[in-house]
Amino acid sequence: MRVGVIGTGYVGLVAGAGFADFGNDVVCIDIDEHRIARLCRGDVPIHEPGLPELVAANSAAGRLRFSTHFADATQDADVILLCVGTPPSADGRADLSQVYAAAEAVGRTLSSEFTVLVNKSTVPVGTAERVRDIIASVTDKAFAVVSNPEFLKEGSALDDFLRPDRVIVGVGPAAGPVDRAASLSTPELLDERARVVMRQLYSAVVRKNDRLLFMDARSAELTKYASNAYLAMRISFMNDVARLCEQIGSDVELVRRGMGMDQRIGPSFLFPGVGYGGSCFPKDTRALLHIAEDAGLTLPLVDATEAINLRQKRRLFDKLLVHFGVRDDQPGALVGKVIAVWGLAFKPETDDVREAPALTLIEKLVNLGATVRAYDPVATETARQSLQSLLAERMRQVELVSGAYDAVRAADALCLCTEWRQLRQPDFRKIARLMRGNVLLDGRNIWDPAQVRAMGLRYEGIGRR
Ligand SMILES: NC(=O)c1ccc[n+]([C@@H]2O[C@H](COP(=O)([O-])OP(=O)(O)OC[C@H]3O[C@@H](n4cnc5c(N)ncnc54)[C@H](O)[C@@H]3O)[C@@H](O)[C@H]2O)c1
Repeated sequence: MRVGVIGTGYVGLVAGAGFADFGNDVVCIDIDEHRIARLCRGDVPIHEPGLPELVAANSAAGRLRFSTHFADATQDADVILLCVGTPPSADGRADLSQVYAAAEAVGRTLSSEFTVLVNKSTVPVGTAERVRDIIASVTDKAFAVVSNPEFLKEGSALDDFLRPDRVIVGVGPAAGPVDRAASLSTPELLDERARVVMRQLYSAVVRKNDRLLFMDARSAELTKYASNAYLAMRISFMNDVARLCEQIGSDVELVRRGMGMDQRIGPSFLFPGVGYGGSCFPKDTRALLHIAEDAGLTLPLVDATEAINLRQKRRLFDKLLVHFGVRDDQPGALVGKVIAVWGLAFKPETDDVREAPALTLIEKLVNLGATVRAYDPVATETARQSLQSLLAERMRQVELVSGAYDAVRAADALCLCTEWRQLRQPDFRKIARLMRGNVLLDGRNIWDPAQVRAMGLRYEGIGRR
């Protein structure tokens, strides 16, 4: 099949390289010229395990190409995947400007007798209809718009692509203006053709296990938001339980394991920590609240999920204040303190720092006058850019170092924000020797408290006894 991919971020690049690897002819385009220039040189601009190898192999085989011209992706395409960003706008609603701009540009350059436009971006209910109207206003070619929300997890995106739990395809409303001469091109027929194309597109992915679920576009769009909000809710629930544990002397790690063994509950997404971040959960829960509000409803569980998360993102900061015996309404209360931060990415195996809890912590520390020395195995550069725009001249108080132990040198406290594999079993003896103070805050409950305390350090996790 000939596949066009619009947007080469985490979703577009993984889908483009993945479908090329199945033998399809794929052209990925992006309006970011710098990004496309890098990809043309074989330089993958995001950190995703296995992706550089997949991009290199398929580029070399001539099945995967990159361009800044929409026509290169739409020319004779069977399928076009819209994978552009839907960041939060100022009020928390999804900003759909990238989706609409891409839809219009695609529509203007459609050339096939029939094309399926696949929306993989996370978009509010009704967007497929709006995209259909936009394209219909600029082309007289036949097309169908389907909603195919993406469920990949950064850090294991290729695996998720190859072995998805499910592939959701929302078909209908279907058609754009059709060749009036072709009397058989009714909207229903175009829908049917879109279903066939989507089944063919995903045939290699669902070969072993047919997890292709067809539904209408509005249900598909909501499935994505409801899934993310539910997972976020499990995390916030456990963060609330962890807070209760600290108050009443229970240990959340035992509670979590005990809960997770129940097959009705399962162990995933029950890990308490420093709050969820990233480019999906925070923005999607907020967008879902707005979808409900626009429909005249409230979603109290989702509301609480978001509120708990905001509180949790300042949890390590609050613990530090207690350790140092200061309050956050005392300007300069942390002047002279050096705080080491391990982990900047919102989760391991990615360089994505969007809404990462570590950035919230660093901003709060810097505002109270602390010096921060931070380390991350891969996210240093993305963090530098985000922190620079967040902190401006206060960036002087932040040093991003290239070694984990460089961060703890002469530090008064060490805060762990991301559970990178390489930070799971550090040399606590060395940490104790290098630090000036002795406070270790384990924001992901990955360290053994006894082992830490044996080195004369003070350990505190999240909800642990
Ligand atoms: N990142 C994830 O883990 C993930 C998972 C599931 C779903 N999603 C959803 O998928 C969508 C894309 O996410 P992402 O993380 O890949 O985004 P991203 O910000 O990493 O990438 C988006 C890309 O689209 C490009 N772009 C913007 N406007 C364009 C236009 N008009 N034409 C062509 N290219 C354009 C940008 O330059 C950028 O390279 C979002 O809606 C997101 O919510 C993301």
